[in-house]
Amino acid sequence: MWRAWEMHNFGRVAVSLECREVFVDGVPQHIGTRAFEILELLISAAGELVTKDQIMRVVWPKTIVVENNIQVHISTLRKLLGGKRGWIRTEAGRGYRLAPPADGPAHATQGDPDPAAAPVPVRASAAQRTWPLIGREREAAELRGLVERELLVTLVGPGGVGKSHLALEVATALACSRGVQACHVDLACVSGHGALVAMLLGALRGAKEPGAGDMGDVLREIGASEAVLVFDNGERCVDALAAVCETIAASNTGASMIVTSREPLRVACERIYRVGPLAVPDALAGGSDIEASSAVRMFVARARAMGTEFPADPKTLQAIANVCRRLDGLPLALELAAARAASLGVKGLVADLERSLLSLSGGLRTAPARHRTLRASIEWSYALLDEAERIVLRRLAAFPGIFTLEAACALATCEQLSRDAVLDCVVNLASKSLLVVHSAGLSKCYSLLESVRAYALEKLEEAGEHVQFGERYAARAEIDKPVRLVPRAVSIAAATPVPASAAYV
Ligand SMILES: Nc1ncnc2c1ncn2[C@@H]1O[C@H](COP(=O)(O)OP(=O)(O)OP(=O)(O)O)[C@@H](O)[C@H]1O
Ligand SMILES: [Mg+2]
Repeated sequence: MWRAWEMHNFGRVAVSLECREVFVDGVPQHIGTRAFEILELLISAAGELVTKDQIMRVVWPKTIVVENNIQVHISTLRKLLGGKRGWIRTEAGRGYRLAPPADGPAHATQGDPDPAAAPVPVRASAAQRTWPLIGREREAAELRGLVERELLVTLVGPGGVGKSHLALEVATALACSRGVQACHVDLACVSGHGALVAMLLGALRGAKEPGAGDMGDVLREIGASEAVLVFDNGERCVDALAAVCETIAASNTGASMIVTSREPLRVACERIYRVGPLAVPDALAGGSDIEASSAVRMFVARARAMGTEFPADPKTLQAIANVCRRLDGLPLALELAAARAASLGVKGLVADLERSLLSLSGGLRTAPARHRTLRASIEWSYALLDEAERIVLRRLAAFPGIFTLEAACALATCEQLSRDAVLDCVVNLASKSLLVVHSAGLSKCYSLLESVRAYALEKLEEAGEHVQFGERYAARAEIDKPVRLVPRAVSIAAATPVPASAAYV
């Protein structure tokens, strides 16, 4: 079931002070740090007056600012909270306070949603939401639009990138607005058509256990409803899921289907939505740009909820930005890193990441086993590869940065693996979200996320191919002009950063 964080509700707007997030109709919004701090002051004052002096003292403790600055942020907040006749009251010359609109609900509620704005109740079966969605405003809006138009949308992306979280958020919001059921079918432990149908029937009937019946029963259960079905972790049983989704799509039930998977289903009615990591600050970013980046927002919100506060000095911000870049903006990694920062501090965390990225652990106790460490998350995908794909993946780890298909084939081909076989493997690895795909004019280039590369390097070493492929890479690096490569430090170098334009296929 959804885990409730303390939410302060103002009509359509909900605010979590713990996570420093603001939602309108359940969709996260980004407001600047200063505006949020003023909002926090107003909420904490619980309807009492907050003077301009108080705001200046708390929000700009070390700077003298003109009053205009306050007004700019108040105006942002006012727009958010219902405009001129909304929740923010001005007491001329003195300050501001929160009060319900004259024609609105009687009071702001804490925890319980405002009944006037409450959605139609839905039977959302076993949807696991552990945390507000952070930094996915654009994706949530795009996905909602897609799901409203298409029968089947598959969210594809690497492990831990946030596919399930985004899918569940959008599915619940959509089901609420339609006043229908949102049905979550977790396929993590399902294999085969029969088990999938049973799982789906159970979810449709609101039962915890799988249900008895066949596809005919599934279609009858869905009926003419506009239910929103979420099939989570589809990569575990792509073939069976493809067949089930095609049958539902062909039956004109009116249901919307959202699949999350590390690889596409490849059925005719499927529309693919690729989910990439959260945006990280670029290397030259300063204070407010760092704070505004999605990855930093998520890392800080997680750390804060675990009781860790960071001093807002430039050095700490730069250290946090470095951590987010090192982790490629991958939400699962940020979540684990935030947990570690709670016990080690940011400096200790940086040192820990140098030691081992893959053993980062300590997230939610209730998280599935594949989310306990980054290694477990990558192993989940690795287990689904065939032998040739495994060999090629580990050899590709020799590339510290972006590489072309040509270079990949030249490097990984051997007596047992022809060039064509390597090419197929590269395409499959990209399709299974183990490679990041970059557009380079009309062609594509590839790279590995840092965590995937660290894992593949371990495998390369285990296979005793470390030295051989390090040398092969060194020999090729001289002639691979389009690929920006970092000079090799020891035998195999650290990865170059992946540009934000990277995509996953
Ligand atoms: N935008 C976000 N804001 C806050 N938390 C997030 C966000 N995206 C992901 N998370 C958290 O990161 C963790 C991994 O996310 P999620 O389970 O959605 O990944 P996934 O892509 O579905 O992974 P898998 O392929 O293993 O199923 C979860 O704990 C999730 O709550
Ligand atoms: Mg998932």
